[in-house]
Amino acid sequence: MAYRTIKGTHDILPDETRRWQQLENVVHSVAGHYGYNEIRTPIFEDTGLFSKSVGEDTDIVSKEMYSWEDRSGGRLTLRPELTAPVVRSYIQHNLGARSPLQKLYYIGPLFRRERPQKGRQRQFHQFGVEAFGSEHPEQDAEVIALAHHIFEELGILNISLKLNSIGSGDCRKNYRSALVKFLTPYKDDLSETSQRRLETNPLRILDTKIPHEQDIIQNAPSIADSWTDEDKNHFESVQSMLSGLNIPYELDENLVRGLDYYTRTTFEFVSENLGAQDAICGGGRYDNLVEMLGGKPTPAIGFAAGMERILLSTVMTEQTDEHESIYLINIEETASIKALQMAKELRSKGITVYMDTKRRSLKAQLRDANRVGARKAVILGEDELKNNRVQVKDLLKKEQEEVAMDKLIKYFTV
Ligand code: HAM
Repeated sequence: MAYRTIKGTHDILPDETRRWQQLENVVHSVAGHYGYNEIRTPIFEDTGLFSKSVGEDTDIVSKEMYSWEDRSGGRLTLRPELTAPVVRSYIQHNLGARSPLQKLYYIGPLFRRERPQKGRQRQFHQFGVEAFGSEHPEQDAEVIALAHHIFEELGILNISLKLNSIGSGDCRKNYRSALVKFLTPYKDDLSETSQRRLETNPLRILDTKIPHEQDIIQNAPSIADSWTDEDKNHFESVQSMLSGLNIPYELDENLVRGLDYYTRTTFEFVSENLGAQDAICGGGRYDNLVEMLGGKPTPAIGFAAGMERILLSTVMTEQTDEHESIYLINIEETASIKALQMAKELRSKGITVYMDTKRRSLKAQLRDANRVGARKAVILGEDELKNNRVQVKDLLKKEQEEVAMDKLIKYFTV
């Protein structure tokens, strides 16, 4: 075969799309109940938006972006994440002026050139939320509760919430110095990446996956020692609010997350069912990002959840169609227009109507009706057409009755 999907990308086939729709419906419904409105931004943006916000030294920006030079000379990038585009849009359209609290959610595809494996793709999908305008812990609790609510609604079991605070600006500066002081004597034992990060972004070394580096950082100074009083109070309030909401969490001091824009609260939901790529959702506060990208200083917090990983870690029960579906069997070419009209009318009453368009035999159409799971077949033959009547066959009970054509809608709708 000449063309196939590109490595790390997948078709979502018709037998999978129903689960995707179910997941999307839960997201729309729960986000709506929390008072969040949907936002949709373009798939590609100016490259600078991501390098500035996510950070030059992050894996995403340094090696995973799909970027190219536009004909007009600018550099463009397929979005690797959605926080920066939503912040860009928030600033561009002055959304803060419309309401002091802007609570937004999104669903869409993202692109990262990572090494594909189970739960890791080059095109993947996220849903997420971003709440702008409140620096208070209530907002952190609401955002985390929203994610938790969606996972509960989906029946996802075996997940845990990891929680940390990486403090605000001053705290980070002090902690950074303490960490560099601690790690410098081990410099030669560190990987090339971590040696580079020691200069550029030492906090990222804390979430290393390399075992001997993990041993080293076990004795590293704790970020909690560098929190300001406000950081500490904020984090303690977030924790008591989560406890008040019966949302269990584990504190994880090494949860610094792979993107540079975070301040204070960071969190991740991890699933036990997923193996190496176990994070189904990640997020945190980013109180400086709006200002950094040219907007008015605006505190904000959000999360994004990987939809492929969610679908891998849940067995969603198939929702059965509540309406009876009908297979309209037409065996006379001359009756095609009548059949199309009848199908249109039934569909406009909210009834699912399957129809053959291959001019197959009665037997083949009945077989197809069973295959698609139709409850009833409406048979339109030459005699029926002449008498303005149709045969209605119950495909489960195998019973058949004759119904006048002008009574058919009533027959199916009462
Ligand atoms: P992130 O941790 O980079 O955060 O991604 C969030 C989630 O997206 C991950 O937990 C994972 O479930 C999913 N994900 C990431 N990369 C892949 C991949 N290659 N294949 C499949 N799933 C993947 C963000 O993107 C931040 N923008 C989250 C955020 C929103 N922070 C504040 N607001």
